[in-house]
Amino acid sequence: MSEKSGADWDSAATDERVEGILAQLSLEEKVAFVTGDLNWNFGFFAEGVQRLGIPDIQMADGPAGVRINKGDVHGGKATSLPAPIALAATWDPAQASAYGTVIGVECRATDHNVSLGPAVDIARVPVGGRTFESFGEDPLLQSAIGVAVVRGIQDQGVQACAKHYAINNQEDHRSSVDAVIDERTMHELYLPPFEALVREGGVASMMGSFNRLNGDYACEHPQLLRDILRDDFGFRGWIMSDYGANHSTAEAANAGLDQEQPNEGFWGGQLLAAVHDGRVSEAVVDEKVRNILRPLIGMGQAENPVGVAEFAVDQHHDVAQAIAEDGMVLLRNDGILPLRGVRRVALIGPDVDAWSAQGGGSSQVNPTRGVSPFDGLRRALGDEVDIVVEHGSDPVTPGALLPGADPIGSSFFRAPSGEVGLHAEYWTNPSFDGEPLVSRIDGQVELMHGFHNFPGFNAASARYEKLPTELNAQMSARYTGTLTVPVTGSYRFVITTLGSYTFELDGRVVAASGSAEVVADTDAVIDLVAAEAVAESPAEDEPRPYGWGGDGGQPDVSVDEVVVRLQAGRAYGIRMSYAADHPSQGFLLGAKLRLGWVPPAGVFSPDVARAAEAAAAADVAVVVVRSYEAEADDRPSMQLPCGQNDLIRAVLAANPRTVVVLMTGAPVDVTGWGADPAALLQAWYPGQAQGDALARVLTGAAEPGGRLPLTLPVALSQTPARDARTYPGVDGRVHYDEGVLVGYRAFDAHDLEPAFPFGHGLGYTTWEFEDLVVVPSDGDEAGIATVTVRNTGGRPGAVVVQVYAGDVVAPVPMPPQQLAGFAKMRVDAGGSERVTVRIPRRTVSYYDVDAHGWAPAAGTAEIRVGASSRDIRVSAPLAL
Ligand code: BGC
Repeated sequence: MSEKSGADWDSAATDERVEGILAQLSLEEKVAFVTGDLNWNFGFFAEGVQRLGIPDIQMADGPAGVRINKGDVHGGKATSLPAPIALAATWDPAQASAYGTVIGVECRATDHNVSLGPAVDIARVPVGGRTFESFGEDPLLQSAIGVAVVRGIQDQGVQACAKHYAINNQEDHRSSVDAVIDERTMHELYLPPFEALVREGGVASMMGSFNRLNGDYACEHPQLLRDILRDDFGFRGWIMSDYGANHSTAEAANAGLDQEQPNEGFWGGQLLAAVHDGRVSEAVVDEKVRNILRPLIGMGQAENPVGVAEFAVDQHHDVAQAIAEDGMVLLRNDGILPLRGVRRVALIGPDVDAWSAQGGGSSQVNPTRGVSPFDGLRRALGDEVDIVVEHGSDPVTPGALLPGADPIGSSFFRAPSGEVGLHAEYWTNPSFDGEPLVSRIDGQVELMHGFHNFPGFNAASARYEKLPTELNAQMSARYTGTLTVPVTGSYRFVITTLGSYTFELDGRVVAASGSAEVVADTDAVIDLVAAEAVAESPAEDEPRPYGWGGDGGQPDVSVDEVVVRLQAGRAYGIRMSYAADHPSQGFLLGAKLRLGWVPPAGVFSPDVARAAEAAAAADVAVVVVRSYEAEADDRPSMQLPCGQNDLIRAVLAANPRTVVVLMTGAPVDVTGWGADPAALLQAWYPGQAQGDALARVLTGAAEPGGRLPLTLPVALSQTPARDARTYPGVDGRVHYDEGVLVGYRAFDAHDLEPAFPFGHGLGYTTWEFEDLVVVPSDGDEAGIATVTVRNTGGRPGAVVVQVYAGDVVAPVPMPPQQLAGFAKMRVDAGGSERVTVRIPRRTVSYYDVDAHGWAPAAGTAEIRVGASSRDIRVSAPLAL
């Protein structure tokens, strides 16, 4: 650990040293220092100045643990922590500090001096691809957790980086979308976490986001970079561009961007030329160098450089496990949990026997070890309990990000070899030329290449064998075998593609791109039922709709549909030929393909049927489902992908004693399963110790300590994703028309019933809240609430005392209530604690757009204290 670290890097002594260094740098050296580079495995980097003892700036993602860029260090492995959203669900700054400490220590020990995180972008829409990297929908919670993470990192002498500044709340069109937002909304909802990280966390660096904001790119936005960040928030560190988010030389330089990352050609020689011809002054470049040097020198990174060292692998694994347990949110429980006296458990889900559920993209971490749910349950339950494992679904892959219907399950297919699945061939050219690079048996027909298949970015289920990166750009693929269905009826094939394809059944082209006769036509039904079979099998011509109510989607893909009548038991020859040959397909944007369908109601795959049988024969079924989430694309809907809704439906029908565990980083629809599971656990992406954490929570060895850091909606129609204008935007602009009414603020204002409200979470004990006293305070603090929490149940437990400020009257419409403070408490059975929560003035104020500043509300606020935003137990007035 460095001596000068944490938030204390900014001092007069540091400034003096920085000036001394600056004076010795040539203009060329300064320009080189502010121009980044790409190093190792897509890592950010900037060369230091060796002759002056300034080390290279070596950065590593990211928000969920260190994604080691130097592949040779520690075998590329670091602790894969629970996703940031799981950390937020702990509502515990102490856990956030432990989380940051692990990241800081491991950054140091893996030769990185800047950690590219945390991400403090408010979760605005449930389908946002990086919701899992965020700390939720509330700025106060986001700030408290973020500040503690930053301090944890920086106390190790490693710089943290607050990202993505700013108004970066969706991944669809992230590199061009213009966020049209009003000043009040920006200041009340989206900027406070960045402000808190600067003022309270002393964050050293920031990352400018990809998007535009009210017309200008974030990385060349003088108001954002200078007026707000420097003048208002007092930021004295440096701001780098996100990967490719800089679009200019003089504009960005003069607007206040400090470093272009990586080298995109706008800075470097171009910037030097701009200084020579007077478009950028040398003083502007000097300022950037100062901003970058200040934390580097102030934190002692020159004298006490990072390097390669051992770190406490086991201890960090334990931290990951404790946070996972403390972040799991028990949404519903009819008493089945904690599990008692079970003899036979059916453990069902795509990843139950191989650790893997985590978010994809730049925050993905190669874990030091991994504990699967099976390993965890086996350890927790002992050898006497029978654990029957069924996957019940194909592996979840980045293909889940494509719109359309669920992929056809592999157990409907047979390859020519007789194996389950299809014979798949992959060529590195778009025309099926020559020998395929890969020939193998594949399950579902589903590809999402390019960005999502970069090394270290693809967080598919461990069972899925990733295709080589040579297939990331233009390519072609062919799948052959047979398809057999269990019920005669109408099957709606849904084919999602970018590129071209031909889909054949029994030698007949039933759908193809670009062919007028066969292109998707929902009215036409192609009948492939033999004449003699028609009489016996009643036709079912009305397949249920697909998507389970989902919407959204990527505008560049086409989703074709064709209805085909198929006969039960007949093996239809199947052949799908696909070419990623669209001109846009290349390095970043690769193959996009899914062969999905909507079979007649009640048709389940043989895999699902086997899982249901296992459930029926067990005392309890535990179904662990997961999503696929990653930067660069939002999810197409709130639905679980890859047939997992069908899986839950079938298992629930077979055994009502079913526990559903959601390993997702964002809300999924939990309403469409025909029945409610006996227990529902939101486990998020719980990191590398997930199996032990889950098993300990299920068996009651640990308390599920989490509370929702975001609302779980019933449907997207309850959120800004209800309308293309507000999400994902039209004509390149996304309008934040809902203003400050995001998350619970909107649910409360519009009196909407969520699936589960913000702050909700059950434990294994019960609580009472008593004797609330609220007294006014002054300055930045509006009041102090003191309350007694009593554990009225039979076992120790954790509770989050949540304080909301409601009924605030101001000249502008206020949300009905806002989180004003919280405290995570652990109390023994029968015990009680007196808790004090300080209420910041901001939570009873509004941003006055005429004065361009915060204005306190007058009158009285109702201070509400309870166990969730919708479970208020006691309240008292606060005079403002
Ligand atoms: C992400 C950043 C990340 C960077 C470097 C970008 O695609 O948006 O969050 O830090 O890549 O990997």
